[in-house]
Amino acid sequence: MKDALKVVPSASPVSTGVRDTAAIAQALSGVLADTYRLVFKTHAYHWNVEGPLFYSIHKLTEEQYENMFAAADELAERIRALGELAPSTMAQIIDNSKIEDHGVDVTAAEMIEDLASDHERVAHRFHAVVELVEGRKDPVTDDLATARSAFHESAAWMLRAIAKS
Ligand SMILES: [Fe+2]
Repeated sequence: MKDALKVVPSASPVSTGVRDTAAIAQALSGVLADTYRLVFKTHAYHWNVEGPLFYSIHKLTEEQYENMFAAADELAERIRALGELAPSTMAQIIDNSKIEDHGVDVTAAEMIEDLASDHERVAHRFHAVVELVEGRKDPVTDDLATARSAFHESAAWMLRAIAKS
């Protein structure tokens, strides 16, 4: 029983016919890192937004961070199903992400534009995952990355639609 508690997680090859699993897992770690960082930024704006658009932004950001939190789990578990290890430190998340902090004293309009452009950036990164899996016999990652692209593109649209005048 004691030895059972000493298992150190390690990558283990799979025989599913998917090619270049390590490269696909690496790409998924990137979009997972983006998703995770965007969960936090979205949550922070949800807490701090003020002004006449408070309710709209507060509600929409709640839907979005809940969606992305669930997606982060799905992305990490896809990495594991490809035989690779999911990220395990916050430093890895920060290093692998293209999302950057915007800073404090952010207006509601700046929050919306910051989030919308982040969603576009992440959609771009998911498109690259779709391209990467092409020809590598990985329909599962293809489906997941396509669905995540759709979410981020629509999230950018909904955010900007709130602020349009
Ligand atoms: Fe909340």
